[in-house]
Formats: sequence, structure tokens, C-alpha cells
Amino acid sequence: MQHGMQNMLAPAGPAAARIASLGWFVLITFAIVTAIMWVLVFWVAARRRGTLATHLPWDAPEDRRWIIIGGFTIPVIVLGTIFALTLKTMAAFPMGDGEMNPTGADVRVIGHEWWWEVQYLAGDDAQAEMLGANEIHVPVGKPVDIELRAHDVIHSFWVPRLHGKVDLIPGVVNRIRIQADTPGMYRGECAEYCGPQHAHMIFYVIAQQPAEYGAWLAQARRPAMPPSDAFAERGEQVFMENQCVLCHTIRGTDAHGNVGPDLTHVGSRPGIAANTIPNDIGSLEAWITHAQSLKPYAQMPNITTLNGQDARALVAYLRSLK
Ligand code: CUA
Repeated sequence: MQHGMQNMLAPAGPAAARIASLGWFVLITFAIVTAIMWVLVFWVAARRRGTLATHLPWDAPEDRRWIIIGGFTIPVIVLGTIFALTLKTMAAFPMGDGEMNPTGADVRVIGHEWWWEVQYLAGDDAQAEMLGANEIHVPVGKPVDIELRAHDVIHSFWVPRLHGKVDLIPGVVNRIRIQADTPGMYRGECAEYCGPQHAHMIFYVIAQQPAEYGAWLAQARRPAMPPSDAFAERGEQVFMENQCVLCHTIRGTDAHGNVGPDLTHVGSRPGIAANTIPNDIGSLEAWITHAQSLKPYAQMPNITTLNGQDARALVAYLRSLK
């Protein structure tokens, strides 16, 4: 699965390319150092044993050379070079407000236990309205400034093929600039332990051609379409009459909850439960009725009060929200 790749040595943008070059340099340097060390270990093990009388004492000048060159000079040169190259790599990334787009970030990402809220800020009708969850659409070939915040605990934003890690810290606004050079889906993960479902905070950066991206954004900003058939209409009623409405927003309806992800276009997402399970009929119904066995401790409760017909209608309604 191409879009499942998280290989930092297969960069798809300029920031990741810089990190990958550094990664290769470190990897090769350490491979060489390790090889030399093993040769020395085997040499020590295999050489002819002498007696104390035939060896120089350890503090003879010739033996000290081993300690000064091998134990001090070479490590200082190797580690110093890697340190300098790391600083140089890091200095190339814009970090603070002064270096970033002065008109503000293009996208705001807020880490929650355990999902990602995504707000699109740039464009003519800029609005800090919750628009998405667990997927970040970007135009291909363009730098995108992302503002990172945390709702509850520290999370870490990591899309290995696009950039390194930057933490999301409560009360702090961090920034990261990503750029994808080829269209595609790039898998990201939370990279800072944030509770029992830390491993189930998966998101995708979806890089699209600018026209396609523009069309997607326009569609994403639209409110939900009213249900097109009676079954989905029943599903909408079920949603509004049950707990769902307390935690979720569906723009264009009476649902304005802000605990869980905005579901206005949930039918078009690749996965649910922060991409832990696929977005299909079976998984959706299982998620609604048994969220706690799929993702224990998540805020989504098991909804066990629906009859079969209502549960299926609710799923049909959610799937219709494209
Ligand atoms: Cu969020 Cu780990």
C-alpha cells in the first residue's frame, strides 16, 4: 500500500529530503565506525597472546596514542561533524512567526486524545471553523504552513515522508512548514506518547493538484446536503435524537457538539476512529455500537440503545455525508 508508507528515507518534499540526506550520512558513518570496531575486536581476539613481559605497559607513549586518537580525537571529529550538520539542517527549517507566512498559517491542526482536528485558514473565506479531522489536504508543490496546538496533552506531528517531528503542546503554538512534491497520500502518526490510544492517532496528508485541491476545499466548506432518501432521513433523526448530537457537529443541521470530530463530510473520509478502521458500513456500525472495544478509553461511548433498523439508518445517513 503506497500511501501507507512511512519511510523517512523515501522523502517526498524538500524538508524530508534534507532530513533524509542527514540520515544517510549518519547511517553510513555509523556503519563504517561499527565495521572498524568489529575488525578491531576480532583482531584483539585472534592475535597471538603474549606474556606481560612482551607487552608494553598501558601507559607507554605508543599505547597512549590509541587512547588519544581512537578514544578521543576520532569520536570528537565524528560526533562534532554530525552535530554541526544537524544544526545546519535544522537552521534551514522556518520555525517562528518571523520566518513563516506573515499573514498566518494556512492550516491549524489541534491534537486531541486521540484524533486530529484540522482547520483550513487560508483563502478568501478564511474561517477558523472546524472543517476536518484526521486528514490534511494540501496543494502539491506549495509550502503549507501549519499551526500546531494541543487540546489536552502533548502530541507530536510526524509525517515521515514530508518532515521531521514537531510537538503539539497545550498553551503553546508551534509551526511546521510542509511541502509535498508529488500528489499522493502521506501517512502521519502521533509521535509522542499521549495515552492508551496513542498508537491509534493516524492521519493522512493528501497532496492534490491545485485545481483539485481548490475544488475539494470548496466542497469541504459547504454545509451537509439534506438526506436524499427516507432511510437516510430516518438516520438523521436518529442522530439528532441520541447522544451523537451532543459531541459532533454536522454543519447545516442542529448538531453543534464540539467534543468529537466534525462529521459534515464524514462519508468522504478514508477511515474512521482516526484512521484506525476503514470507513465502510460494517466498521461504522461497529464503531457506533462498540467503540470502546475498538478503541478503549476514547471519548466515543458504546451506543447500545439503538435497534437494528435505526443503527443501519444512522450508518446510511453518515455514509451519505460526502
Ligand atoms: Cu497523540 Cu500520541
